[in-house]
Amino acid sequence: MLILSIESSCDETAVAVVRDGRQVLADEVLSQADMHAIYGGVVPEIASRSHVTAISRLATSAIEKAGITKKDIDAIAVTYAPGLIGALLVGVNFAKGAAMSLGVPLIPVHHVRGHIAANYLAFPELEPPFLCLAISGGNTIIVDVRGYTDMSIIGATHDDAAGECFDKAARVLGLPYPGGKPMQELAEKGSDTAFKLPNAHIEGHPYDMSFSGLKTAVVNAAHNAEQKGEELDKAGLAASFQKAVSDALVPRTMAAAEELGYDKIVVAGGVAANKRIRADFEEACKKAGKKLFVPPLKLCGDNGAMIGAQGYYEYLAGARAGSDLNAYATMDIDNIEK
Ligand code: KG4
Repeated sequence: MLILSIESSCDETAVAVVRDGRQVLADEVLSQADMHAIYGGVVPEIASRSHVTAISRLATSAIEKAGITKKDIDAIAVTYAPGLIGALLVGVNFAKGAAMSLGVPLIPVHHVRGHIAANYLAFPELEPPFLCLAISGGNTIIVDVRGYTDMSIIGATHDDAAGECFDKAARVLGLPYPGGKPMQELAEKGSDTAFKLPNAHIEGHPYDMSFSGLKTAVVNAAHNAEQKGEELDKAGLAASFQKAVSDALVPRTMAAAEELGYDKIVVAGGVAANKRIRADFEEACKKAGKKLFVPPLKLCGDNGAMIGAQGYYEYLAGARAGSDLNAYATMDIDNIEK
C-alpha cells in the first residue's frame, strides 16, 4: 500500500511516499528554521504562510522522487494534531483536496504517534509492545505502546517540553534558534559538573517531569554572572544543563520500563538527536539488559515519512477522515479524536 503523507504541524513542511508503513520511497522536508531564527522562535503566521507556498511543490517532488504517479497512491495521511493550528490546517486542507481528487481514503495521524513510528522505518524488526520516551519541541511524554494504535501516557512534563527547554536555555546563552544542536555543541566544550542545577520530582507521580525550574536556574546563573560582572562559563552551563535534562529523562524511562516489564526502549522526537541523551540511554540499557531503539538523526526531527508509517497502521486499525476533518492544537496521544 502506497501512502502519500503530509506533515505541517510546526516549522517543517514535509511530504513523503511510504510503502506498507515501513519503506520510504521519498521524503521531502523543507525546514523554515532560518526564517524563524531572527525572531528567536517560531512565528505561527510565518509558518502557515510558508507551508502554503511550499506544500504543493514538495508533494510533486515527492511523487517524482518516489518514481510513481498520482494514480499509484492508495491513501493520503496527514498530521491533524497537535501543533500550531494555522500550520496544521494548511496540511489538512491540502490532504483533503488530494484525497478527494484522487478518490482515496484520508487518514488522520497524531503527530507524536508519527514520531514514535519513525522507529518502524529505521528498525524493520521493531514491533510493539515497548516503552517509548517521546521528546520534541512541544511534547515530552513516556508512553506505554501496547500496539501500533493502542498506547497510553504514563508520564509527562507538567510545564515545558524538553526541546522547548533546550531552546529557551540556548536563547539565554545567546545561541541561535532552534537551540538544541548549538547547545549540544557548546556543551561538548564544558564540564557537566560546572553548575549545580535542579532535578524536579513531582510528589506521587514518579514518571512525570518538570523543566521550568531548570530553565529558570539557567536564566538565574546567566543574570548572576552579568550582575557581578563575572565572565559566564557558558560551555559549563550548557554541559550541566544537558546533563540535568538527561538525568530527568533517562532514569525515569528506565524505571518505567522496569515496572511495566518491557525489555525494549524506544526514543523518539527532535531531542532524541541529542548525543548526550543517546549515550546515557545506551549506557543505561546496556546495564539493564534492555534493547534500545533510537532513530537516525534524519528521522528524529519532523518529517513526512513518519506520518506515512503511522498512517499505515492507523489505516489498518480503521481510521478514516472525511472532508470535515479538523485540526487540533492540542490532543493527547492516547485520547485521539476520530
Ligand atoms: O521533533 P521536532 O523536530 O519538532 C517537534 O515536533 O517539536 O523537535 C524540535 C526540537 C527543538 O526544540 C530542537 O531544539 C530540539 O528538537 N533538538 C535538539 C537537538 N536537535 C534538535 N535538542 C537537543 N539536542 C539536539 N541535538
